[in-house]
Amino acid sequence: MAQKKELLYEGKAKRVYLTSEEDKLIQEFKDAATAFDGAKKGSISKKGEINNTISAFLFEYLENYHIPTHYFETISANEMLIRKLDIIPIEVVLRNVAAGSLCARYQITEGTVMEYPILEYYLKNDELHDPMINEYHAYAFGFATPDETRAINRIASKINAILKSFFDRRNLVLVDFKLEFGKRGTEIFLADEISPDTCRIWDKKTHKKLDKDRFRHDMGGVDKAYLELRDRIVNA
Ligand SMILES: Nc1ncnc2c1ncn2[C@@H]1O[C@H](COP(=O)(O)OP(=O)(O)OP(=O)(O)O)[C@@H](O)[C@H]1O
Ligand SMILES: [Mg+2]
Repeated sequence: MAQKKELLYEGKAKRVYLTSEEDKLIQEFKDAATAFDGAKKGSISKKGEINNTISAFLFEYLENYHIPTHYFETISANEMLIRKLDIIPIEVVLRNVAAGSLCARYQITEGTVMEYPILEYYLKNDELHDPMINEYHAYAFGFATPDETRAINRIASKINAILKSFFDRRNLVLVDFKLEFGKRGTEIFLADEISPDTCRIWDKKTHKKLDKDRFRHDMGGVDKAYLELRDRIVNA
């Protein structure tokens, strides 16, 4: 088993550690919560454990559908062993239902079901507030080649199709979500996390929000919503 070594990086939601094996990292999920590029700070009880559990479950689920992910195994309540990648500094967002910044930018009512999923790229840069980019920016800035964006788009669309029906069967709506990808040689892997921090998920009937929007907009019941979502994903 890979032994935990020094801290490589501390982000807003996770700590990443080197290990005794060059190609493996440990990703530790924190209870700390931030929103609006770190401007709003707080914490959500048990979030570290919940996001580790949900991410591990969904990475394993996606691997069954031949989606390459960085996940190796869960090593504690809030830590997973992952493949060390060169992260492509692009946030890939998939949207099925209008919410968040899309509503403001294009004047669309929250909850509008899109006729076709929307795939967007944003630059991973908090200081610049993650500006939206397109594939030509990715080529021009040297982040990814056309072959790589083709692979990313194909994998992201496939993940959306798989997860949409997964959540639908649990009476949940996958409104939108953010993915990060990384490279190892010529291969592309899904990285980072898939959790209520990075997805919008609503109850199908009541449209109750079960994700970080409750924290962003001080809606209350944040801790309970995260617990409920974990149980509805993992214990179904
Ligand atoms: N497999 C991987 N290999 C290397 N780095 C990874 C891997 N998976 C995720 N990461 C990176 O580890 C960090 C996780 O920390 P966290 O999500 O808390 O960061 P953050 O505060 O969102 O900041 P940022 O993503 O802007 O660096 C991120 O930078 C993420 O891109
Ligand atoms: Mg992050």
